[in-house]
Amino acid sequence: MSDLSVANTATSKAFDVKAIRQDFPILSQQVNGKPLVYLDNGASAQKPIAVLDAMDHYYREMHSNVHRGAHTLGDRATAAFEGARETVRSFLNARSTQEIIWTRGTTEAINLVANGLAPRLKAGDEILVSHMEHHANIVPWQMIAERTGAKVVPIQITPQGELDMESFNSLLNDRTRVLAITHASNVLGTINPVAEMVSQAKARGIITLLDGAQAVPHFQPDVQALDCDFYAFSSHKLFGPTGIGVLYGKTAMLEAMPPYQGGGEMIERVSFERTTWNVLPYKFEAGTPAIAEAVGLGAAIRYLNSFDREAMEAAEHALLERANQLVETVPGMTIIGTAKQKVPVMSFKIEGLHPSDIGTLLDQQGIAIRTGHHCAMPLMDFYGVPGTARASFAFYNTLDEVDQLFTALQKVQRLFT
Ligand SMILES: Cc1ncc(COP(=O)(O)O)c(C=O)c1O
Repeated sequence: MSDLSVANTATSKAFDVKAIRQDFPILSQQVNGKPLVYLDNGASAQKPIAVLDAMDHYYREMHSNVHRGAHTLGDRATAAFEGARETVRSFLNARSTQEIIWTRGTTEAINLVANGLAPRLKAGDEILVSHMEHHANIVPWQMIAERTGAKVVPIQITPQGELDMESFNSLLNDRTRVLAITHASNVLGTINPVAEMVSQAKARGIITLLDGAQAVPHFQPDVQALDCDFYAFSSHKLFGPTGIGVLYGKTAMLEAMPPYQGGGEMIERVSFERTTWNVLPYKFEAGTPAIAEAVGLGAAIRYLNSFDREAMEAAEHALLERANQLVETVPGMTIIGTAKQKVPVMSFKIEGLHPSDIGTLLDQQGIAIRTGHHCAMPLMDFYGVPGTARASFAFYNTLDEVDQLFTALQKVQRLFT
């Protein structure tokens, strides 16, 4: 018998998780002879029937290429595709759909911005990131720094996994050109004080980019209130399909940047003498886009909008609270990342156990978590660990599943010590 002696008090009345789970067919299967407990949502979230149906319907009823205007199917596909862009605009509270660029995901969105800003960067300029960034918000900047002579400078973090605001303030200077920071950390769960940081950066004329990959699955950002120049996220972490993501950019910033890739759709006119670019957002969308995926992402956002988002957030918070309460039931277990403001992500280590062994043994019990460096090697170096185990929760997870995780961890811990 496991010892989960902490009272299970946190429940959300307004939130019927049982009914919600019916919307996610993948969750009701057995893995390794046990009911699946999916706690790897930070890596990629599962898709509701609404998304599967929207993509199926698109392919059955309206698929054609977009923006060609030659026939009815093309018009239907274009309407669905551009309708999804409007859904994203509204989700982010952007001013206009011309500020919403489809990309393959957060990674491509950040690469697009880094390349687009390269002509403005010169030797000695500084690009401020943080010690808790995903490689997707480090490496593109390093590549651009290499090309331009600029420097990537990391903001320090505290042992609790919060941004060290003194370090941030001391690093802002006349050479700082870009601030590229994650809204929420994929390893620590920390929600960063991005509005305050953007405001300080703006006052110095610094261009700002927020990596929203881990934020949008848990709360809705308002890009006008944040006042950032760019905001990036991936559909697949937001319960939508893989292969598509979003770059929000302020119109003036996007207009000032050169295109990222050349090809069809992104041009106004091509000749061997001179080629001119299409208007926004198409200037940044070379080639046939991921049409069905855009439709799927639109459906995912509409699905999320059909719930009381506050109740959803409260339910997720209850999962994290429950997990925090149970840590003491596993001898030698330590949480990495204890910031005050967190999305429901729990990285941890257990004394004497390698993270990958924890992952394998949990998988045998039907529990999916992520182990490794989580594409955040500088952060692993900061904590002096090769990797961590990470459980990341979504609104469809239950308190029972959190309990199952800890019962399984107790078993693993007993087995090895
Ligand atoms: C904070 C953060 N940024 C960027 C990414 C990269 O996202 P994608 O692989 O979907 O481009 C991830 C993925 O885990 C992430 O967690």
